[in-house]
Amino acid sequence: MKKDLLKLMDLTKPELFHILDVADQLKYDQKHNIAHPILKDKTLGMIFEKSSTRTRVSFEVGISQLGGHGLFLSGSELQMGRGEPIEDTARVLSRYLDGIMIRTYSQEMVEKLAEYATIPIINGLTDFAHPCQVLADLMTIREHLSTLEGLKMCYIGDGNNMANSLIVGGLLADMEVAVATPKAYQPDASVRAYAEGKAYTWTEDIFEASKDADVIFTDVWASMGQEGEAEERRKVFTGYQVNEELLKVAKKTAMVQHCLPAHRGEEITADVFEAHAQEIFDEAENRLHAQKAVMAILMGNL
Ligand code: CP
Ligand code: NVA
Repeated sequence: MKKDLLKLMDLTKPELFHILDVADQLKYDQKHNIAHPILKDKTLGMIFEKSSTRTRVSFEVGISQLGGHGLFLSGSELQMGRGEPIEDTARVLSRYLDGIMIRTYSQEMVEKLAEYATIPIINGLTDFAHPCQVLADLMTIREHLSTLEGLKMCYIGDGNNMANSLIVGGLLADMEVAVATPKAYQPDASVRAYAEGKAYTWTEDIFEASKDADVIFTDVWASMGQEGEAEERRKVFTGYQVNEELLKVAKKTAMVQHCLPAHRGEEITADVFEAHAQEIFDEAENRLHAQKAVMAILMGNL
C-alpha cells in the first residue's frame, strides 16, 4: 500500500479489498463494543477548503474511536489561505501530525501535499475524486448484495468527482460500470483512459445505462465550487434524474445510492430517495467505518 490515499487509481484490487475487509471488521467490532485503540495518541489534521457534514464528522469520530485525536483546520484560516506554498505547509505539518485528511479543489495540490509530506495524506474530496466516499459505497453494496464482482453499477448525472471515483472503484472491484452523462459533461479523460478496454460503457441515454443495473448512483448536478453554473446546469441535466420510471428498467432488487447531500426533484425524486433511505443512510454511516480502515492501515500500519 502506498503512503497516501489520493485516488482509487493508485490502489490494486487486493489493496481495495483489504480496506473493505478491515472496514467490515471495524464495523462489526464497534457494534459489539470491541475497541481498537490502533491510533492511540495520534493526531489527524483535517484541512477543509469546502463545506462538509459527513466527511468532517466521520473522520473526527473515526480517529477518536481509534484512540487518536482529530484537529479541524479551516483552509482559509491557515497561512496556505494567504498563499503559503503547499510544499512548506506539507513539511511543517509533517512535524506535528501523524496524518492529514484534506478536502479542497485541486487534485494536483493534494498530490503535491503528499509528495512533500512525510506522513499519510488522505483525499477527503477534490474536484477530481472522492475516494473515501466510494470505499464506503463499495462497502455498502457488498453488505447489501453480498458481493461486488460481476454486479452492474450505473451512474446517472454529472461526470464529476463521484463519477470518476465510482468508475475506477467499480472496475477495480470487477463490476460492470455503465455511465450516462450529457456529452459535454463526461468523466475526466484520465478516468476514461483507465476504463478503456474494461467493463465500462458511456451513453447519453439514462435508460440504456440503467438497464438491469444492480445499483444506481447519482449525485448533484452542480458540485461545490460550481454554484455559479447551477442555473445552466439545471437545464442541461434535466432528464438525468433517478426516478420510478428509470428504476423500472433496472433489476427489481436494485439498490439506489447517493453520497449526499441530495437535491430532491433534481437528480433524484423524493419518492425514490425515501424508498431507498435505508441503503442511502447505511452508505453515509459506512463513511465512518471505511475511513477508520483507511486511517488504521495508513497511520497504524494495519
Ligand atoms: N458525501 C460527503 O462527502 O458529504 P459531506 O460533503 O457532507 O462531507
Ligand atoms: N459532487 C459533489 C459531492 C459532494 C459530496 C461535490 O463535489 O460537491
